[in-house]
Amino acid sequence: MPATSVIGLQWGDEAKGKVVDLLTSHHDIVVRYQGGNNAGHTVKFGGRTYKLSLLPTGILQQCVKSVIATGVVVSPGAVLKELDGLLEGGQDCSDRLLISDRAHVIFPWHVLEEAGFEKLRGRSAIGTTMRGIGTCYREKMGRFHAVRMGDILDRDILAAKVREISPIKQRLLDAVDPDGPRLNADAIIEEYSAYADRLRPMVIDTTSYLLDSLEQGKRLLFEGAQGSLLDIDHGTFPYVTSSSSSGCGIHSGSGVPERAIGRMIGVAKAYTTRVGGGPFPSELDNAVGERIRRAGNEFGTVTGRPRRCGWLDAVATRYSARFSGVDGIAIALLDVLSGFDELYICEAYEIDGNRTRDMPSRCEDLAKAVPVLRQVPGWKEDITGITRFEDLPAAARMYVNTVSELVERPVDLVSVGPDRCQTIVLNPALFPSETVKH
Ligand code: IMP
Repeated sequence: MPATSVIGLQWGDEAKGKVVDLLTSHHDIVVRYQGGNNAGHTVKFGGRTYKLSLLPTGILQQCVKSVIATGVVVSPGAVLKELDGLLEGGQDCSDRLLISDRAHVIFPWHVLEEAGFEKLRGRSAIGTTMRGIGTCYREKMGRFHAVRMGDILDRDILAAKVREISPIKQRLLDAVDPDGPRLNADAIIEEYSAYADRLRPMVIDTTSYLLDSLEQGKRLLFEGAQGSLLDIDHGTFPYVTSSSSSGCGIHSGSGVPERAIGRMIGVAKAYTTRVGGGPFPSELDNAVGERIRRAGNEFGTVTGRPRRCGWLDAVATRYSARFSGVDGIAIALLDVLSGFDELYICEAYEIDGNRTRDMPSRCEDLAKAVPVLRQVPGWKEDITGITRFEDLPAAARMYVNTVSELVERPVDLVSVGPDRCQTIVLNPALFPSETVKH
């Protein structure tokens, strides 16, 4: 199994970080291939808790290289802030990090422009993380006013680009708000030159590095950020992120062919959450949703926003598992559902009186979808100490089996708590005993 990938099957925050963390020591390289510092994960290491956004989850493992590949949009200041935070905790991780020279760079104008556009959208705002992700990707796709990591390593190229772009961006920002912020090209050049000086040793051609590593028999672990339903092409457009946040992005974002992936694991919470705007058919905008939010501590890692909560949407999850090419699923946070008399899983949508198991392409149709809920029994027991599937209460086993049946994929893992040991492994092949080490 040369490469493994872990992706989210919902609208992000599926606890992918825990699954990646479990698998990291069985791999040599962990790769982020899309998104940027809009993602968020919490890593516990050596008695400390680190909140990471852009750095791959594997960064704290000494023998594992972490790669920020070509498809990621990089805020150099955010990378350095995270590395410095780790250093403060006694972890010098800079020698394990590699950043693609082809990755696009986020500048202050991306963040300012996004804030302006979100304001203009008013009630139909996407509810972005305000990190300049979408505006940076827009320029990459538009091939205009785009700057890559390789560019900022050369001060002359950086200065020329910033001087060309800043006045145009200033006019755009002024059009949105004449009293808004001013861009200072000289200050930006100084700031980004300083970033480049520190990041220079880490910036390489990651595509060749990953392909060479594969040929050398090293094991790669791809870490998806956000979730498949936020995918720019296949997600709930326009309430999506601006990258290929499903399994579809791995090849384009890293340069590693899909055939190198031995197993694609799709992570889904035992329920569903969503941050930001957009339709959410199984949403529980009531006391039950609030109960799940509290039990699951459903507040954003990056923005601190309360997450919208609802029953597990098997229509959406099955859709994601199919188009992402998922082999098996990991069900996370099953323990959060303990204590309910009965539980519900959305098994179909009714749209304009028609029942369907397919995901509509138009948000307007998804907004009309009435969830068809399957009722299943709940369980009262505390399951956070259970490590074998057969020891789960019968109702919890039934819940897991029903999710597997509706999503049409086998279950690889079930997570019953935040710690590594709070994991029920149903597919032991995920943890091979031998691994190539550096
Ligand atoms: P953006 O990625 O900041 O452009 O935000 C676009 C949408 O994706 C918004 O609804 C965000 O809340 C959502 N989003 C972005 N990153 C994450 C994440 O890591 N988890 C969950 N939602 C996210």
